[in-house]
Amino acid sequence: KKQYRIAVIPGDGIGKEVMPEGLRVLESAAKKHGVSLHFDHFDFSSWDYYEKHGQMMPDDWKDKIGKHDAIYFGAVGWPAKIPDHVSLWGSLIKFRREFDQYVNLRPVRLMPGVPSPLAGRKPGDIDFWVVRENTEGEYSSVGGRMFPDTDREFVTQQTVMTRTGVDRILKFAFELAQSRPKKHLTSATKSNGISITMPYWDERVEAMAKKFPGVKWDKYHIDILTANFVLHPDWFDVVVGSNLFGDILSDLGPACTGTIGIAPSGNINPEGDFPSVFEPVHGSAPDIAGQGIANPIGAIWSGAMMLEHLGEKEAGQSIVEAIERTLAERTLRTKDLGGNADTTACGKAVADMVD
Ligand code: NAD
Ligand code: IPM
Ligand code: MN
Repeated sequence: KKQYRIAVIPGDGIGKEVMPEGLRVLESAAKKHGVSLHFDHFDFSSWDYYEKHGQMMPDDWKDKIGKHDAIYFGAVGWPAKIPDHVSLWGSLIKFRREFDQYVNLRPVRLMPGVPSPLAGRKPGDIDFWVVRENTEGEYSSVGGRMFPDTDREFVTQQTVMTRTGVDRILKFAFELAQSRPKKHLTSATKSNGISITMPYWDERVEAMAKKFPGVKWDKYHIDILTANFVLHPDWFDVVVGSNLFGDILSDLGPACTGTIGIAPSGNINPEGDFPSVFEPVHGSAPDIAGQGIANPIGAIWSGAMMLEHLGEKEAGQSIVEAIERTLAERTLRTKDLGGNADTTACGKAVADMVD
């Protein structure tokens, strides 16, 4: 029987608190479904590591984690000690780019019993996927700063769209839409204002749509799209966006389902040339770190996505169902969802409910 080798990287802040709960639930699901998981733990991609070594990761980080079947990640960033762009470009963004994880897949789902901040919304009304381009776009390293500290200071950062890069994320999103009952894709654009890259994005969407005649599609400028997430979340099925737009939509969507603390993500290299990274959408949350109150569901659900990615669909699905049963009980929810369970109590509840 195959044993899956998972690299485990907790990172900073609440990453270190939600990770043990994610592992607890993975172990429970693995045991119940006869899946064999082996975990290798790494302390890099954190402020602690940086403080000791002067860099976020060892020089041979790719050798250390590049051969694993998947990477299970917490969160990184400790802005009181190290600027975010240094810690993030020294770790998480390196994984995404160097492991060519061009899909960032982020489900948005209102769970049974969980109150939505949007009045009158019930489960089923909010159930869609954000498909975020994850290797190029607005997150580019093309640009620079000239004449620093003078009146002539000049700063640029170019948006990069390659045909390969745009087409492959659109293809993934259309395929996902085609596999869903509603077969509906929405593209996030801003081709009225961003007058070179975004019209190009729209053009490629139109070209890709021709290859998927069974998928209904539409597009919205990002400004009204954010408004429609709040006013009409039931309109959406699969929403595809550039790196920055996808980032924004994947915090807004989960907020409409009660909290960003439950939102999971997969940074996926669909070809399997490199390992994919599974991590909650949220960050290290310095404002609540150390209190033991972080919601572990985002990390736990990310573990479920990881199992499904590895082909262990039943085990992954059993975790999602256990999450639903846990969240349905107010007393088992963490504070961000109006409950009083701490991180561990919530994680243990999910682990016990996996069957
Ligand atoms: P954040 O997601 O860490 O926190 C935003 C707000 O949501 C905070 O009030 C926080 O307490 C709350 N929150 C987040 N996760 C929660 C959870 N599981 N349970 C309960 N409440 C939760 O975003 P931020 O404050 O913008 O960033 C903090 C740090 O994390 C920064 O260094 C940032 O760069 C980094 N960050 C990392 C990732 C990542 O590793 N993928 C993602 C986002 C932000
Ligand atoms: C996310 C995060 C990261 C991003 C940051 C921390 C660089 O917000 O994973 O959504 O923008 O991709
Ligand atoms: Mn984000």
